[in-house]
Amino acid sequence: MARIYESRKRILVTGGAGFLGSHLIDRLLGQGHEVLCVDNLFTGTKRNIEHLHSHPRFEFMRHDVTFPLFVEVDEIYNLACPASPIHYQHDPVQTTKTSVHGAINMLGLAKRLRCRILQASTSEVYGDPSVHPQTEEYWGNVNPIGVRSCYDEGKRCAETLFFDYHRQHRLEIKVARIFNTYGPRMHLADGRVVSNFVVQALRGQSLTIYGDGSQTRSFCYVDDLVDGLIKLMESPSEVTGPINLGNPDEFTMRQLAESVLKLTGSKSEMQLQPLPPDDPRQRQPDITKARQLLAWQPATKLTDGLQPTVAYFRSLLGLSAST
Ligand SMILES: NC(=O)c1ccc[n+]([C@@H]2O[C@H](COP(=O)([O-])OP(=O)(O)OC[C@H]3O[C@@H](n4cnc5c(N)ncnc54)[C@H](O)[C@@H]3O)[C@@H](O)[C@H]2O)c1
Repeated sequence: MARIYESRKRILVTGGAGFLGSHLIDRLLGQGHEVLCVDNLFTGTKRNIEHLHSHPRFEFMRHDVTFPLFVEVDEIYNLACPASPIHYQHDPVQTTKTSVHGAINMLGLAKRLRCRILQASTSEVYGDPSVHPQTEEYWGNVNPIGVRSCYDEGKRCAETLFFDYHRQHRLEIKVARIFNTYGPRMHLADGRVVSNFVVQALRGQSLTIYGDGSQTRSFCYVDDLVDGLIKLMESPSEVTGPINLGNPDEFTMRQLAESVLKLTGSKSEMQLQPLPPDDPRQRQPDITKARQLLAWQPATKLTDGLQPTVAYFRSLLGLSAST
C-alpha cells in the first residue's frame, strides 16, 4: 500500500547518482519530498550527490537494478542506464540487461506497491529517423543488430514492458522519450558532443567534428528536462506517454562548435573525422504533445545553458574563470 503523508512523498530515483538523476533529486528534495537514490555507480558518481550527504530526507543505496529491489516508496523514476555510446557499448549485454531486467524489476516493485512509475526512455528509439521532426506516432528506424542496438532495442523493449504492465496490470505508467540533454554534471569523457566540445575547447585541443558537421541535433538544458519529467509524473493518470521531451531548436554540429568556442574564448580549431556507424543525420523532437498535455516547453536558450555548463567543466578541470 502506498504511503502518502499529506503532500510529502517518498520517491525512488534509480540512476540517481547520474547526470539527470542527480538534478531530478535536487528538485524533488526542494519540493519537500523524501528521496531514495538507487545506483550501482557504473557511470554515476558520488560527487554528483555529495552535497546531499547529510540531507535529512535523502538516502543513497548502492544497488544494481538488474536484481530485484524491495523497498517502500510512493513513486518511481526509473533512470538507471548508461546513456552515452562509449559507456553503453562498454558492456553491451549489461546495457540490455539494465534496460530490460531493470524495467521488469522496477515494474514489479511498482505493481506490488500500486504506485506510479516513470521510465526515462530516449529519442534513440526512433533510430536513424526517416520522419523529421519525430512525433511519438513514428515507430522508428532501428538497426536490431548494430553496435548501438543494446541501448536502442533495450529501451524499446523497456517501453513494451511498461505498456504491457499498464494494459495487463493496470499500472499507472509514464514514458518520457528524452532527447539530447546537457548541463552541469555531465560526464567529462563520455563522448557526447556538448561535453566533448566544451572540454576540448577548455583544454585548447581541436574540436572533433564527425562527418562534415552539417548533421543536426537539438539540445535541451537539464533544468528544462527535469521540469518536463516532474510535470509528466504529476499529469493525470490517462497521460501515459510516450511523450517527447527535448528542445526543438535545431543546431548543426558546426554551429554548436562555434557557440562553444565563443563562450570559452578558446582558440581551438575544428578537426573533421569520419561519421561513426549508425550515427543519425538529424534528430529533432516534435513536442506538440508535451505542450498540449503537460503545458511544458523548454525555456533555456542554448547559449544560456552553455554558460553554467562551461563553468562546471572549468571547475572540474581545475581551471580559473579567466582561462
Ligand atoms: N542525458 C541525455 O541526453 C539522455 C537522453 C535520452 C535518454 N536519457 C536517459 O536518461 C537516463 C539518465 O541518463 P544520464 O544522462 O543521467 O546518464 P548517466 O550515465 O549520467 O546516469 C545513469 C545512471 O544510471 C546508473 N546505472 C547504470 N546501470 C545501472 C544499473 N544496472 N543499476 C543501477 N544503476 C545503474 C549509473 O551509474 C548512472 O548513475 C538514462 O536512462 C538515459 O538512457 C538521457
